[in-house]
Amino acid sequence: MAEPAELVIQDLHVSVEGREILKGVNLTVPTGEVHALMGPNGSGKSTLAYTLMGHPKYEVTQGQVLFRGEDLLELEPDERARRGIFLAFQYPTAIPGVSLANFLRMSLKSVTGKEMPILQFRNLVKEKMALLKMDDSFFSRYVNDGFSGGEKKRAEILQMALLQPQIAIMDETDSGLDIDALRTVADGVNALRGPRLGILIITHYQRILNYIKPDHVHVMVDGRIVRSGQQELVEALEARGYDWIISEVQSPQGV
Ligand SMILES: Nc1ncnc2c1ncn2[C@@H]1O[C@H](COP(=O)(O)OP(=O)(O)O)[C@@H](O)[C@H]1O
Ligand SMILES: [Mg+2]
Repeated sequence: MAEPAELVIQDLHVSVEGREILKGVNLTVPTGEVHALMGPNGSGKSTLAYTLMGHPKYEVTQGQVLFRGEDLLELEPDERARRGIFLAFQYPTAIPGVSLANFLRMSLKSVTGKEMPILQFRNLVKEKMALLKMDDSFFSRYVNDGFSGGEKKRAEILQMALLQPQIAIMDETDSGLDIDALRTVADGVNALRGPRLGILIITHYQRILNYIKPDHVHVMVDGRIVRSGQQELVEALEARGYDWIISEVQSPQGV
């Protein structure tokens, strides 16, 4: 019997401060696949990520989100994490005095509900760091305190490796990640990708998709997914930008 698809978003409408931003999003991310969500700035990509995270400012007015058949929108954010949903930008900006090690141990506890014995935890971290080709010295550093963009991304990917989510949603926020940070994300995702993990990468630029080859690509314009395809869609966007899609959406063929 087929497993239920991991994440199923159906006719999702979301408003922020009374203004409708998402206007009927349909998207399915099955386990084992990497999907990229692209789109021009302001199209609603981050709104979708925040809604999936359960941010209180984002009001769902219509539609539903199922995670392995369960209504995700009924769950509190921490329950979503416990069900195996990882949101890359849940990473805190700076917690002076909390080491990365302690932060990771706390976040593992909050997801599994159990405190892992310290030795077992250290071994697990070592194993994941080896998988991600990370250097140990990084581990005792304070959470994000003085981390470069690339190091923050490395910490985030390490957190993801430890938590072993069933689905990871990564909003790259288009905040001008430098090439090192991009490579870190891409290498991490490629190391972790596999039959038990679904990944949704949200990005404005096609750049990161030079390093992570998604199985499916979706383009969001004005709160809806208007095109879905594969690598050829990424290439078309790289060559031609978003304007042609926007104008096709505004004046559909045959009209
Ligand atoms: N927290 C918020 N408060 C007010 N407006 C918001 C908020 N989040 C998103 N918006 C608005 O929603 C629209 C979509 O934004 P966003 O989801 O960030 O797009 P994208 O990530 O595709 O660039 C924008 O017009 C933005 O101004
Ligand atoms: Mg965004």
